Amino acid sequence: MQRVGALVLAAGKGTRMHSPKPKVLQTMIGEPLLWYVYRALEGFVGDRIWTVVGFGADQVKSSFQARSSRFVFQEKQLGTGHALQVAWPRLIESGIEHVIILNGDVPCVPKSIVADIVSEHIGKMSDLTIATTRLEDPGPYGRVFRDISGRIKRIVEAKDVRVEDGSKTVNEVNVGIYMLRLGSVGNVLGGLSNENMQKEYYITDLVGLADQAGLSVNSVTSMDSEALAGVNTPIELAEVEETARKEIVSDWMGRGVVIHNPRQVWIGPRVMIESGCSICGPCHIFGESRITSGSIIDAYCHIQDAVLRACQIRPFTHIEKSSVDVGSVIGPYSRLRPGTDIGTDSRVGNFVEVKNTKLGRNSKAGHLAYLGDSVIGDDVNIGAGTITCNYDGRRKHQTRIDDGAFIGSNTALVAPVVVGSKALVGAGSTITKDVPDDSLAIARSQQKNIRRKQS
Ligand code: UD1
Ligand code: CA
Repeated sequence: MQRVGALVLAAGKGTRMHSPKPKVLQTMIGEPLLWYVYRALEGFVGDRIWTVVGFGADQVKSSFQARSSRFVFQEKQLGTGHALQVAWPRLIESGIEHVIILNGDVPCVPKSIVADIVSEHIGKMSDLTIATTRLEDPGPYGRVFRDISGRIKRIVEAKDVRVEDGSKTVNEVNVGIYMLRLGSVGNVLGGLSNENMQKEYYITDLVGLADQAGLSVNSVTSMDSEALAGVNTPIELAEVEETARKEIVSDWMGRGVVIHNPRQVWIGPRVMIESGCSICGPCHIFGESRITSGSIIDAYCHIQDAVLRACQIRPFTHIEKSSVDVGSVIGPYSRLRPGTDIGTDSRVGNFVEVKNTKLGRNSKAGHLAYLGDSVIGDDVNIGAGTITCNYDGRRKHQTRIDDGAFIGSNTALVAPVVVGSKALVGAGSTITKDVPDDSLAIARSQQKNIRRKQS
């Protein structure tokens, strides 16, 4: 196949979003809009994907570091046609012959429409191919004009629609996906002008220019207008997000995941769940989470980039970049912060925060504790109110608690410190020195009982 690349237009501010965040970084079930656009291109163009960035370019760059060498900076956002003009020299120097262009704000775009546009464009040896759909109310979309033989003549932007030219009655719209041959369309690219209602250079004007220059313009039309919706406002974002959410949840149920209250379950597009799991809404499972068969996730949990192996996550639990092994029970009201690994058959209970900590097999931290930067062995009991004092104001230090140790309630473990295996720490202790194996450590002032003065 001739060399094909892709260009994603992502420089706009998204004025109608009214947000300081660039529109393409708004998230849909936990992933930025732009992530979905890249996903739609997977398998078509290799890594030959350029992205036009402008508003909030640094933020977009840091969200997609791996792609940033192919970012093109559009300093002033003078329109989608201008974005293409800015990227043009990079496309030409890359040696590609055709480019697929996608708007960065059309996140539900299916791979099938990309496949269709590629085969139509290459099959008909087209110069310019566009994707369209039909809408009862074409709203803010560009209207596609054809002549009586059905040949595409031009696209008229919604704001430039006039009663006089009949454009009010057109309901075939441009969805913002194009494919063009660089060799021929390059000759008309300089002809774009900004004499229109928005004073912008429209990529859509290329259609009229190409037609006038005698180039061949073709189209693919999809009936699935919902999947091709652009996101311009918070309401549109919520609509596309809901469509995508429902689809993912139904798909998992179809594969044997039991979901209670599915209307309030959010499962991100990168999450993997084995059949034989049970999930109860409301809950969020995002990022690269992996959940193996037999896991139970109760309501009101937020789970991000976690690996859960046949364990139970009870309500109101937050888990981020952590793993939980077979048979363990976490929650209700637990928080596992990044870098936490819970071994098999262990227990983390209410109001326990665990960070960057390994908890071994059959160990328990049942209530009200903070375990940070720790390595905790097997069969350990952490009493209520135990705190690892891991931060001295400058640096973080490690706490080690070996197999079989028992930490009494309300203990402060001042790191760096080691509690040896089968050691016992008396309740209320502040431990500043290592405790040897098989020892009892008590570090608290002795109780005095003094007779009260009678008044
Ligand atoms: C655009 C199309 C419209 C189509 C609709 C489909 C134009 C002129 N109109 O309208 O025909 O029906 O998409 O959703 O293209 N962008 C840049 N640089 C700019 C301006 C925009 O990179 O200077 C990017 C934006 O970040 C966005 C995309 O281009 O991802 C589309 O821009 P937007 O302003 O949303 O165009 P629409 O008005 O939706
Ligand atoms: Ca748009």
